[in-house]
Amino acid sequence: MLRFSAFAGAAFVIAPSAADAARSVFRHGVASGDPLPDRVMLWTRVTPTSDAVPGSGRGPSVTVGYEVAEDAVFKRVVRRGSATTGPAHDHTVKVDATGLRAGRTYFYRFTFDGHRSPVGRTKTAPTGSVSQLRFGVVSCSNYQAGHFAAYQHLAERGDLDAVVHLGDYLYEYGPGEYGAFRAHQPAREVTTLAEYRMRHGQYKTDPQLQQLHAAYPWIITWDDHETANDAWSGGAENHTEGAEGTWVSRRAAALRAYHEWMPIRFGAGDTIYRRLRFGSLASLSMLDLRSYRAKQGTPGSLTGPDQMAFLRESLLDSDVQWKLVGNPVMFSPLLVPPLPLAVGTALASLTGQSPDGVVLNNDQWDGYSADRRALISLLADNGVRDTVFLTGDIHTSWAFEVPVDAGTYPLSRTVATELVVPSVTSDNIDDLTRTPPRTSSVAVETALMGLNRHLKWAELDSHGYAVLDVRPAEVRMSWYFLADRQRADSPAALAKSVVVPAGTQSIR
Ligand SMILES: [Fe+2]
Repeated sequence: MLRFSAFAGAAFVIAPSAADAARSVFRHGVASGDPLPDRVMLWTRVTPTSDAVPGSGRGPSVTVGYEVAEDAVFKRVVRRGSATTGPAHDHTVKVDATGLRAGRTYFYRFTFDGHRSPVGRTKTAPTGSVSQLRFGVVSCSNYQAGHFAAYQHLAERGDLDAVVHLGDYLYEYGPGEYGAFRAHQPAREVTTLAEYRMRHGQYKTDPQLQQLHAAYPWIITWDDHETANDAWSGGAENHTEGAEGTWVSRRAAALRAYHEWMPIRFGAGDTIYRRLRFGSLASLSMLDLRSYRAKQGTPGSLTGPDQMAFLRESLLDSDVQWKLVGNPVMFSPLLVPPLPLAVGTALASLTGQSPDGVVLNNDQWDGYSADRRALISLLADNGVRDTVFLTGDIHTSWAFEVPVDAGTYPLSRTVATELVVPSVTSDNIDDLTRTPPRTSSVAVETALMGLNRHLKWAELDSHGYAVLDVRPAEVRMSWYFLADRQRADSPAALAKSVVVPAGTQSIR
């Protein structure tokens, strides 16, 4: 772990020619995350020598300074310190900046060898009675499939409390696998610590990704592609035991690189499921649905017992109104009708189902129905209100009411709602079927809503992001879609808004 020491107000002398060097030293940008009322994680990576590139294991151990201020020009610095890093941490720097005030915007930057990093802006969590929160919500940002214009749009609006990333922040594949618009580095599927570090390093050089990290704190969890496709506790669909090392060592490598490179606060035992509180208005419980799950298609748990206990505690917390759940895979039951083969195959590739139309999606909560039943019963039996699942993973946009019994809905009452965000770039139906947007998918969406009456809206073609407004009276989710995922300057437009009125567990 990093060591910290007091930093006695050094004067930073910036030579006139230093701008390029600073860009080079801090070429991976800055980031913040996991805001609490009194602290926030700060992140950067330093490249002290030209050979100290990600995954190299080269370069010296160095000390990096940091400053946190109330203003963007650092007149009112409230926190100063330093951290040491080196090859053992891939030259990443993580600081838990403490002693901050609740619900405040702060600015931060790092310094090394007379160079200053770009300035990041962050915000601590509020306490007490809170009238409004606004989150950006994203998932599935495959570098190879397009540009991260969604990130830039969220950065430029400037009005978010935090960005929630629901997983598949990066993908493990080699060039040309699952997208050939931009090539992954290293030029192979990543399986080792050095390779995962290099892949994180590549993503962190994307300017639009850097822009969104610098704009707000992120609250992230991982899904499967941060390790390998369709991961479970003992392996993954996209892992060959032996030829690609052991799953235990591969997962450990992926987890370590993730810990180094992401502005996330790990819990004891390397847990990443965790709960953040935003006063009495909302909690956000981020789930890890890959590390503890039984293999897809076998009996067993999705969450594991400890995480299930954690989630039950989150949902039963009567001190908080909105129980938001950052949920990497879809919670609501979904029946898929027989579809035209090309469309059925495309949908199946996103959900792991048979292209002929089947009832069970093994990789989602559908494949772990005992866990889902336990949570639905918990919500029903205790009269829990205002639970909203925020979901990623399947690259498409959906709005569900979660019934006690989908078979008798709408006679059966509902216990929660689920709002699913599309991919930032990763393939969805029109990409996979190679058909123009809003052609073959439209009939499918209608068929899905006919068969699943608790499904209120679905859109299977578009990429983009969502903005979640949380107020005492309602939660509002607004989906914004990109015109073209392969344009860095793609416009984005509001496509759909739905409202969940407080106390109703319903979609309006
Ligand atoms: Fe994904």
